[in-house]
Formats: sequence, C-alpha cells, structure tokens
Amino acid sequence: MSLTPISGRLLDENRPKVTTASLREQKLRHEPITCLTAYDYATARLVDEAGIDIVLVGDSLAQAMLGYENTLSVTMDEMLHHVKAVRRGVKNALLVADMPYGAYQLDPQAAVSNAMRFVKEGGAEMVKLEGGERRADLIHRIIDAEIPVAGHVGLTPQSVNVMGGYKVQGKSLSGIEQLMRDAVTLDRAGVACLYLEGIPREVAAMITAEVATPTIGIGAGPDCDGQVLVFHDILNLTFGTPAKFVRRYGDAAALIMHAVQSFRADVKSRQYPSDEESYHLPKETKAGLDTVLARKRSMRR
Ligand code: KIV
Repeated sequence: MSLTPISGRLLDENRPKVTTASLREQKLRHEPITCLTAYDYATARLVDEAGIDIVLVGDSLAQAMLGYENTLSVTMDEMLHHVKAVRRGVKNALLVADMPYGAYQLDPQAAVSNAMRFVKEGGAEMVKLEGGERRADLIHRIIDAEIPVAGHVGLTPQSVNVMGGYKVQGKSLSGIEQLMRDAVTLDRAGVACLYLEGIPREVAAMITAEVATPTIGIGAGPDCDGQVLVFHDILNLTFGTPAKFVRRYGDAAALIMHAVQSFRADVKSRQYPSDEESYHLPKETKAGLDTVLARKRSMRR
C-alpha cells in the first residue's frame, strides 16, 4: 500500500516500522514512547504521518465515535469495523486493538478467537485487554497464539461499575501493593507493553522502574516510558469536562463549527457555488445549445 504525503505534514519517509522490539529498545534508551488513539482512516493517517509510535484503536471509541455513555456497550464487530479502517491509514506506527468488554471475560477460547479476529481480519499487531493478575492465564494463551498483548491496569474503564465510578486507583498502601502485583505478574506473563491509567505518579514511577515492559501512562504522571491520550480529547472533540490529565493541543470543534457555519451561510446567501466552482459546457456544445434555444424562442413568438 502506498501512502501519498500531503504537503505541510511532518513526514519522515525513512522512519522505521515500530515493533514490539523497538518499543523495548525505546524504554532502554529512555526515549519516550508516544501513543494516540485513532478510530478511522483519516485520523489514523494523520497520527501515523505525524510520527506517533503507537496507534491505539481504543474502546474509548464507544463514547468518542459512537456516542455511547461508557465503553461497556461497544461490540467486537463495531471495534473490528474501526480497526480495519485504521489499518488502511497506518504505515509505520504499531497498531493496537482494544478488546471490548465481553470479548475476553467469559471463555478463554472465545477470547483467543476474538484476539485472532483483530489480527486476521483487522490487521492489528497487538491486542490490549484490561485487568491485572487475574488475566495472566489468558495473556499466556493469547501470546501462545502468536499475538502480542498489551496489559492495562489501574483505572480500568470496563470496571466502572465495580469501581463505583472513574476513580484514581492505588491511593492506599493495599491498593499500591495490588497494583505492583498486577504489573509484575503481567510483566512476567510477557505483555509487550503496559498501559497505566489513573494512578498516582509515584506508583507509576515505581512500576516503570520495576518492570522490563514499557509502560504507557494516561493520568499516571510523567515518569512512565510513554504517554497516551485520546485523539478527540487533545482536539476538543469530546463533549463535557475533560479529565485533569487531558491537555488540549487544538480546537477542532471550533474549526469545524466555523467551516460548517460558513458553508451554511454561503449556501443561504447564494455565494456558494461560484462560477469557478461550476462545470461548464464545451464551447461547441454551448454554441449548438444557444442556437437550439434561440430557434425555440423565435418559434414561440
Ligand atoms: O480506550 C482507550 O482509549 C484506552 C486508552 C485511554 C488507554 O484504553
């Protein structure tokens, strides 16, 4: 597949493909890993061409793209639809697909088969699933099926009903112990990277120092091996109050609103389309048409 660069973009044609091995090397070199979510072809291309290391088709697409209240409703088929679109736009970044709620909690065989669908049908290079030490056996099985796995511990949004809301995890001594156990168990199970969400920066720093696997933080402070944010959050495309850790890098909502309102105003005032934006008849056809119309007019008189 060849991707045509669009002028003005940051594009390094010679950038090597990001792999699970290169992520480990980045950790060893202390070179921060960048990750953003993407859910469709256009944004995936932009994120990839901007040089982001990991493109995550997160189940956050439930809210960002589909307008669901939380991540619990999104299905395997919906996720797969978006993973396929993102695959078509990503060239260099590592493509990670998020296992949705219900795709891995029931039957381990079904879980492996769902992970395989993301690879075979969606072209994902890694799958991510939420949960700590209790996921170790399942992670072994998925890795046995030749599929790299990303772990995700701390504030795991699929457990919103168990946590009683989106609450920062690991604030008590017992909470820290549990998080450390989760992280070390997943590291030993062979995860290729570990997402740390919504935990105190001190705990994220301890985990990052303890495990060999690269840690990618979201709301976990600056000492992780990398950082991830939701694409729609950094561009003000989410509705509602953003979380404390969200940094807005642009206002796509304002840009879109301005463009859409301008189009509307131009159509209403007949300023769109102009003559230059219209197709024209070839000269000879136009001359022939003028003659036919003139004849019709003179016959009517
Ligand atoms: O679904 C998602 O976007 C995620 C990241 C926030 C880690 O899981």
